[in-house]
Amino acid sequence: MDLTEPKLAEAPPATGHPKQLYMLFFAEMWERFSFYGMKALLLAYMVTQLKFDEPKGYAILGSYAALVYTMPLFGGMMADRFLGYRKAVMFGGILMSIGHLVLAVPEDWSFFYGMAFIICGNGFFKPNISSLVGTLYPENDPRRDSGFSIFYMGINIGAALGGLLCGYVGQQINWHYGFGLAGIFMILGLVVFAIGKKSLKEGLPPNPAALRKPFFAGVPTEFGIYAAALLVIPAIVALFNRYEIMDFIMFGLGAVSLVYILYIALKLEAEARNKLFAALIMIVFSTLFWAFYEQNAGSLNLFAMRNVDMHVAGFELPALAVNNFLPPAWVIALSFPFAWLWPALNRRGKEPSTPLKFGLSFVFLGIGFSVFYAACLLGAESGLISLPAFILGYFFIICGELCLSPIGLSMVTKLSPANIVAMMMGIWFFASAIGEFLAGKIGALMSVPENVVDNPVLSLPYYADIISKIGMYSIGIGVVLIVLVPLIRRLMSDVR
Ligand code: PHE
Repeated sequence: MDLTEPKLAEAPPATGHPKQLYMLFFAEMWERFSFYGMKALLLAYMVTQLKFDEPKGYAILGSYAALVYTMPLFGGMMADRFLGYRKAVMFGGILMSIGHLVLAVPEDWSFFYGMAFIICGNGFFKPNISSLVGTLYPENDPRRDSGFSIFYMGINIGAALGGLLCGYVGQQINWHYGFGLAGIFMILGLVVFAIGKKSLKEGLPPNPAALRKPFFAGVPTEFGIYAAALLVIPAIVALFNRYEIMDFIMFGLGAVSLVYILYIALKLEAEARNKLFAALIMIVFSTLFWAFYEQNAGSLNLFAMRNVDMHVAGFELPALAVNNFLPPAWVIALSFPFAWLWPALNRRGKEPSTPLKFGLSFVFLGIGFSVFYAACLLGAESGLISLPAFILGYFFIICGELCLSPIGLSMVTKLSPANIVAMMMGIWFFASAIGEFLAGKIGALMSVPENVVDNPVLSLPYYADIISKIGMYSIGIGVVLIVLVPLIRRLMSDVR
């Protein structure tokens, strides 16, 4: 008998959650603190400090964010086949910590290297820590969904604090201190995990012998995987230096995955095939959602610095901190009413179906951008929009996020055949990667010429025009999706 087994994991309290959930909650909270803290600074740092022209800044930001969410496809696969979740999270966390520390080095070379370490590290960390949450509950445990909601809360508390503190320190005090602060909290997250991981029951390598097997010249497979990941880092740096190639990579990978899933679908029997088609339609739409939504970490950072009136009671609030605090703060605030709303509607038989929620998410997003646009019209004379309007716009945008992001995850698990659920999760993140890449392209349309950047009256129209179009297209796409609801529901058969 193994006496070291943690007691709580064997007999979880009937109403509470396994204590390991809180360890994963804090590890992920600090990791997201550093991830979003650094992302808050990225574009503004490139444009105002490294003096990249704006289209290049947007292209690099889009490429960074796209690669960050492409790597989980590989990190997830490596964990499933060889490393197990725990080793993968540790390795990813170490790479991310190194990346953040490199970014804090005040030299030009450090920038692309720091981002490349974070990209690789995130590929091992992010998907696998989420999978670990899943291992805490037996298959049909009713606490599973609420466990994930608590975990999503940790993500957003970290993101809100990171955006606020790193945004403030980076913009107001010193950019490299901002990056360094992010690094310190990443290390804290890693320490929480390193100490807490012993209490986990699952997540060990699926086949330890395979890990020890020599992979090349007597080097065990485990170290082969780490070495391969390290080799990817200079390749990513090279890509940043030739970012035009990213178009081929992202659209190429996108086309290949689409064709591959269609191929899998065609081999299934009718009902399973239709369900997978339904999932695919919603995944493709989600790409567009993220392309619009992610203006937050891109164009809206520069917009907040230049064209939002940040004065409150004689104080000037730091624009980057405000812009990056607002979305996760709204997620935290709105999670509670949404957690109440869906079951309440359900009891009356009026809960919207998943495709309808997706349609509504675009409508909300479009309303949010329309609020920004209306504020631009009102602020044309001063070149500044009011802070309350900026806050209100984000309220609607986040209502959109809550109709799509958490719902998408469970949609993927319900509509995919059991043997490809993990891969479809990777594809769900990959769809957001393509969205992030498109977001960079849309952001570049809002590039403001050098001689205008310090004059809000002249810079405002550059944003207002595209913001109004995002609002219109988003509402239009929402309407198309709502029209498609009966068709998608038929494909979904018994799944709601
Ligand atoms: N913001 C959430 C997170 O960081 C959800 C999300 C994941 C959004 C991936 C876009 C892409 O986990």
